[in-house]
Amino acid sequence: MRRVFVTRRIPDEGLRLLEAEDLAVHVGQSREDAGVDRASLLKEAARSHGLLSLLTEPVDRELLEASPGLLGVANCAVGYDNVDVEAATELGVPVSNTPGVLTDTTADLTWALLLGVARRIPEAHEYTVAGRFRIWGPNLLLGADVSPGGSGRRKVLGIVGPGRIGAAVAERAAGFRMEVLAHGRSESRESRESGGELKKGERRQEAPGTTSPTGPLMRRTSLDELLERSDFVSLHLPLTEATHHLIGEAELRRMKESAYLINTSRGAVVDEEALVKALREGWIAGAGLDVYENEPALTPGLAELDNVIVAPHIGSASRDTRARMATMAAENLLHHLRGERAPNVVNPQVYETEAWEARRARSNQ
Ligand code: GLV
Repeated sequence: MRRVFVTRRIPDEGLRLLEAEDLAVHVGQSREDAGVDRASLLKEAARSHGLLSLLTEPVDRELLEASPGLLGVANCAVGYDNVDVEAATELGVPVSNTPGVLTDTTADLTWALLLGVARRIPEAHEYTVAGRFRIWGPNLLLGADVSPGGSGRRKVLGIVGPGRIGAAVAERAAGFRMEVLAHGRSESRESRESGGELKKGERRQEAPGTTSPTGPLMRRTSLDELLERSDFVSLHLPLTEATHHLIGEAELRRMKESAYLINTSRGAVVDEEALVKALREGWIAGAGLDVYENEPALTPGLAELDNVIVAPHIGSASRDTRARMATMAAENLLHHLRGERAPNVVNPQVYETEAWEARRARSNQ
């Protein structure tokens, strides 16, 4: 019987799909607040035909080399920087992800952080529940407009990484009458598929479960111009060698003192130490963060700042989206196990390799 290892308990919808097959399904960790330890991960992967991983587990060369029976890795996330895809391809292991379905949910969270930090919602909440709201005040908790508001000036939203999620964030800016700038040809497959930046009137290719009534108008520009002009800079990049610390001290200093940085992509795209300095010294007005450089640890000083909103990496965390991600990952895994091309394979070139043929042949013996 084929064995699959699901590193941590995923929503039941996904597990049920696997359990309905003739498979031995092992879940490494059922607690929400704990991961699977490295020794168990290595041991389990080495005995399994399929691995369903989360972004919390490094699926690296060591693991892949020690797992000759693996027919595929189904990562239950759109990002797959936790997987050494180059090593996987070399060793003949297809890797898949869950793109598309979490686009809207992550774009919504981006806007929640953007609005929350601009209008100081966490501070307002704390103030109110602490019983400090005694009288309406003309100077109480003043924040920044996202719409033209009092100044009448259209605000500028800068999207760094205009792939699917970046485009969905841009689309929502229309309701706030914002001007949208975009920079970066995302290296991700999802972005390439969506054509990266969209032109007026163009529509995104939708994955099942996503909605997009209109395409956003984004004007492509250099990173420098985007940083200099934007009132809100939102990051939507995969983490790669090229994007690591893309936003560092120099970039933060380029932003306006009144501007906000929002990051719902990957923490290490930002140099977090430089960000703490920028927020503390007022180079920028604030930040809304869902992801961290050394997740789950926060850079010292970050949590004490009152011009930042932090969330525990919940970009895709709606019940429906997480259920759909789990079923997508399970479906990908079933394709891997059957030796068929997985719908969301990120390294399709693997299917041309002798290493993959050899794995398939071994598993059929
Ligand atoms: C979440 O961060 C994901 O990549 O799905």
